[in-house]
Amino acid sequence: MNATDDARGVNYRCMQISDHAAVMRLWRECEGISLRDADSASGIEKYLGRNSGLSFIAEQEAHIVGSIMAGHDGKRGYIQHLAVAVQARNRGVAGRLVALCVDALGAQGIVKSHVHVLANNATGRAFWSSLGWVQRSEIVMYSFINGDNENA
Ligand SMILES: CC(C)(COP(=O)(O)OP(=O)(O)OC[C@H]1O[C@@H](n2cnc3c(N)ncnc32)[C@H](O)[C@@H]1OP(=O)(O)O)[C@@H](O)C(=O)NCCC(=O)NCCS
Repeated sequence: MNATDDARGVNYRCMQISDHAAVMRLWRECEGISLRDADSASGIEKYLGRNSGLSFIAEQEAHIVGSIMAGHDGKRGYIQHLAVAVQARNRGVAGRLVALCVDALGAQGIVKSHVHVLANNATGRAFWSSLGWVQRSEIVMYSFINGDNENA
């Protein structure tokens, strides 16, 4: 995707590994984002390499104000780390980031995607519902760590 601007002068473009330090700062200041060792620069570099063209950032006046990451397994898309800086919220930035991801996944043949939301993240839950994403009540998630790193 080429960079694209919205009416408010927010620029949207694909995330690069060189954005890592800035997006980490954004993720750290946003409630509702869980960060693990897999979010290190090497972890994100691997992720972006495996899922080229599916993660995006929003920037305004050279500052990153939004991010979203997506990947897929050939069948389903998975969205992670949607975050918008407090000062840029409620202007449609997150909605635009999600649309970019959904379109990019669609271009790769992926028409159904999932997102994990912390149960106590009322804002995040309201956001996804407002976009028409359906909360699943018939599924619970199980996780397993292969090794002894509890922060893997
Ligand atoms: C959730 C978040 C990404 C929304 O970003 P945003 O850019 O403000 O969202 P948008 O402006 O695109 O909002 C789109 C719609 O979501 C809904 N929405 C957004 N924030 C909301 C809130 N705090 N409460 C209720 N609904 C909300 C609204 O319906 C809104 O549409 P409207 O403006 O036409 O009413 C942002 O609040 C954030 O970064 N939160 C912290 C991190 C987080 O929780 N990420 C999600 C993890 S899954």
